[in-house]
Amino acid sequence: REHGSILPSMSGDGHFEGPPPGARPDWTIDQNWDAYSRADHDVWITLYERQAALLPGRAADPFLKGLEALDLHRAGIPDFARINEELRRLTGWTVVAVPGLVPDDVFFDHLANRRFPAGQFIRKPEELDYLQEPDIFHDVFGHVPMLTDPVFADYMQAYGEGGRRALGLGRLHNLARLYWYTVEFGLLETPQGLRIYGAGIVSSRAESIFALDDPSPNRLGFDLERVMCTPYRIDDFQQVYFVIPSLQSLLDATLQDFAPIYARLAAASDVPIEAVLPTDRVFTRGTQAYAKAGGRT
Ligand code: PHE
Ligand code: FE
Repeated sequence: REHGSILPSMSGDGHFEGPPPGARPDWTIDQNWDAYSRADHDVWITLYERQAALLPGRAADPFLKGLEALDLHRAGIPDFARINEELRRLTGWTVVAVPGLVPDDVFFDHLANRRFPAGQFIRKPEELDYLQEPDIFHDVFGHVPMLTDPVFADYMQAYGEGGRRALGLGRLHNLARLYWYTVEFGLLETPQGLRIYGAGIVSSRAESIFALDDPSPNRLGFDLERVMCTPYRIDDFQQVYFVIPSLQSLLDATLQDFAPIYARLAAASDVPIEAVLPTDRVFTRGTQAYAKAGGRT
């Protein structure tokens, strides 16, 4: 998978026995920064330089500002101890290392406590554009810059709390779509045009271009309930992207009690992934040519 942009709940087979040997009960491990090889650091630097060249004019300002504030290119793979000092100072978040995917409840518990679980490993040089599980480049380059924004920082913590609640209510599949279409694949409307803020896009060279420039996908105004009714692709470019007018409006939309929304969703059917509804605010009506041609296959 190019995107490496997985919400832990939506991947794997869901069978977790408990933390792997060597991990703590909350699934965290030491980053063990000294153990990365020269080749590992070079993979980071290659990916970093590719994205840093591509993203000005494409990524949203809070992302670019966060990238700058955390100085993520310095000497290869960042040391969490170093970035956590700055991140803690800015928004009270920290990054913690995990071996790979973690169970839903563990993931939500970290978010609710302003800890972002990041994969400790980095992809191989022959996997620059393709990987199965989120690695440190996706998790740190993709996700952590946005956590320097105070509004987005609050949104992610609230999402963790909301995740625990959705688990209990049996509506996690609906809430996961919100994460997917915002945290992973969200677009932001600005006076200069659409900008990327989703981690799955900013960490992927090909999707950084596709999400903004390709005529295939629909680009629609964000509507909370509509998003929670829309399925998504985990293994290819998205067929639809949702555009928020501001991070504050996203946070505001999620502050309401979701219980009545979940009750409505339980009785409603999903919206087909390529649909444009009469109620949608349409930024781009896509041709769907990419998906119709079979996508990546
Ligand atoms: N307000 C949501 C609820 O009542 C929780 C939530 C907040 C979900 C932010 C997502 C993002 O369940
Ligand atoms: Fe991700």
